Amino acid sequence: MDAQSIILHLLTPEGRADPYPLYALAHELGPVAPAGDGLVLVCGYEAARQALRDPGLGADSGLTAWGGDADSRPSLAMLSRSLLVADEPGHGRLRASMAQAFTARGVAALEAGIGRITDALLDGLEKAGGSPVDFMDAFAFPLPAHVICDLMGIPPADRARFRAWAADLSAMLEPVPGPADLDTADRVAAEVGRYFTDLVGARRAEPREDLVTAMLAARDQGLLRDDEELVANLAILLVAGFETTTHLLGNGLRLLLDHPGAMAGLRDGTVPVQGFVDEVLRYDTPVQLSNRVALTDGVSVGGVPVPAGTHVVVLLGAANRDPAHYAEPGRFDPTRRDSRPLSFGGGAHYCLGALLARLEATVAFGRLPARFPALTSAPGAEPVRRDRIFLRGHEVLPVVPNGA
Ligand code: HEM
Repeated sequence: MDAQSIILHLLTPEGRADPYPLYALAHELGPVAPAGDGLVLVCGYEAARQALRDPGLGADSGLTAWGGDADSRPSLAMLSRSLLVADEPGHGRLRASMAQAFTARGVAALEAGIGRITDALLDGLEKAGGSPVDFMDAFAFPLPAHVICDLMGIPPADRARFRAWAADLSAMLEPVPGPADLDTADRVAAEVGRYFTDLVGARRAEPREDLVTAMLAARDQGLLRDDEELVANLAILLVAGFETTTHLLGNGLRLLLDHPGAMAGLRDGTVPVQGFVDEVLRYDTPVQLSNRVALTDGVSVGGVPVPAGTHVVVLLGAANRDPAHYAEPGRFDPTRRDSRPLSFGGGAHYCLGALLARLEATVAFGRLPARFPALTSAPGAEPVRRDRIFLRGHEVLPVVPNGA
């Protein structure tokens, strides 16, 4: 199969449900595969690592080039004001406007709170006992939602609406979002914009110890140009900081259910929890791709020239299963050492929340196996994958906490 067919298959429901056989075919084509129409697929680990760090490749327009026109789409207009797709000049100041919340020190200070939230959610699972419960609903969504909302300063009463907002908004990150999904994202972008505009107004009147207040101060220092830019970056934090971690937790739990040895290993300490989290990030990568665009001629990726304007799709999920980099890449092995998956990207856009996401997952998978040693899949209720390729995760993941 050539690279063009691989990308077309990736965009089908079957490809979205299980992209890994397609990635295996892509590896046979080499680390970098031109796919026609000014498109290049990067699936080799080293080539992906290099592409993410190459200043000749910009993040700007990579997403909107496939998805539509930022001028006519409020959701894409919001995205285009965010750090996720900003190049220099601009990216550095946008990132600095929020970075202080995500330093090692800042994140370490959240650990006790994350432990408390985790324990409360595990208490909730305990109540379900021998009855089926949806892990996504009961744990994977509420934990990161609670953490990011507390960090940003979003009142607890408003948390519930963030799940639907984040899910609807993240549709705009799909490589080829459907017009109906983009219409929904446009409507939600307007709602989220109004919500954050009001919240910013409230914090301006009465500052608090939260990220919205900190970003207001950054706006006063000139790191953010105007309120529109402030609101767009708050909205992107909502998408980037919450659903991603939700799917790390869901994908991790699914792997635990499928690999009882890993569950037992986490309990008796033979599987290190950090190693388990790394292997989940590698084996079933929550963010499957990063988009780049060649800013000038003369850029090459893995030795393949990419002329100005070429759209470079860095398939993180494929790079994490590169047979030239990982022994037996299709085997889930939580005892792998020094695996360093590319799941948080790399270079200037390296995930700002990587430490936070890792901490949440480490706390969750550090506690869950000990409290629920008999946790199993719910009989007769199949897990349902989300029909997305950019964010890979589950819609529904039925489990019985105390065993069926
Ligand atoms: C960027 C993955 C959690 C905030 C990224 C990128 C990836 C990623 C791959 C790079 C995108 C690119 O280069 O095109 C993940 C995964 C997560 C996660 C897999 C969870 C498992 C979080 C959390 C936050 C966050 C918890 C914040 C609370 C961000 C931000 C960016 C980003 C702000 C943009 C950085 C920039 O453009 O400079 N993330 N992320 N992420 N992530 Fe995460």
